[in-house]
Amino acid sequence: MLLWCVVVAGCILGASEGVSLPKYIKLCRASDPEFDKCGLESGKEAIRHLVHGEKSLRLQPLSPLKLPFIQLENRADFQLNITDAEITGLDKAELVFFHSDLEKRDVKVVVHLSEIVLKGQFHNDGRILILPIKGEGPGVVKAFGGNYSYGFHYDLIKKKNQEFSKITKDEFSFTIEKAEFNVEKVFGDGALGKQTTQFLNENWLEVLKDFEQVIGATIGKICNAIASSVFERVPYNEIILP
Ligand SMILES: *[C@@H]1O[C@H](CO)[C@@H](O)[C@H](O)[C@H]1NC(C)=O
Ligand SMILES: *[C@@H]1O[C@H](CO)[C@@H](O)[C@H](O)[C@H]1NC(C)=O
Repeated sequence: MLLWCVVVAGCILGASEGVSLPKYIKLCRASDPEFDKCGLESGKEAIRHLVHGEKSLRLQPLSPLKLPFIQLENRADFQLNITDAEITGLDKAELVFFHSDLEKRDVKVVVHLSEIVLKGQFHNDGRILILPIKGEGPGVVKAFGGNYSYGFHYDLIKKKNQEFSKITKDEFSFTIEKAEFNVEKVFGDGALGKQTTQFLNENWLEVLKDFEQVIGATIGKICNAIASSVFERVPYNEIILP
């Protein structure tokens, strides 16, 4: 078994069916009493390769990950969009936890990333906590010491007499040690930019809470796309041996 949930991202192009997993991915047996341990080891090695891209599965290299448009927040009182975003650091993803329940068809993985950096053009309007903000400009957000957790449930579906797994429910969550913002240029006026940046850095934990759901949903979608690109192409019995 392996986990390409990996983390946080990747872009998937077209589809072709009936592909085998790359040789560097060691398969685990469902009958193995230490299946989780095998999954963790296999997954660690798989991720080390997959982050650099895998043509046979149509996975692009994960770093840098380019996202043309992210709508981070869209409320009546606050909007935040980022255009031309680029995330770096995902190639350092390290799988630290793997658990699966093959009977219930549930899988959970946790990936550790010591540092990821998001650069982009920020556009915002509204307020964060009590602070009114409006403006646009280049900004950088760094997240340090993160544990990123992706759990999913899959069903088995038949296609051309072969069984494939399909994710039917999933969830993404994360904890980080620290976030750092540099958004001084986002607010035009120098003093306001400095104050806002300082405010965000001092209150990063609460600021992040504000965005947690959207970030979770956005990244969850990316994990889903990566895992699905494998599940759609590689038959289930070639991912998990009996
Ligand atoms: C953010 O993007 C949405 C959707 O394109 C748009 O309606 C909104 O005006 C944008 N907000 C800002 C502050 O750029
Ligand atoms: C991430 O996980 C490691 C290992 O379980 C733990 O020591 C660390 O405190 C976690 N960090 C965060 C920010 O949750």
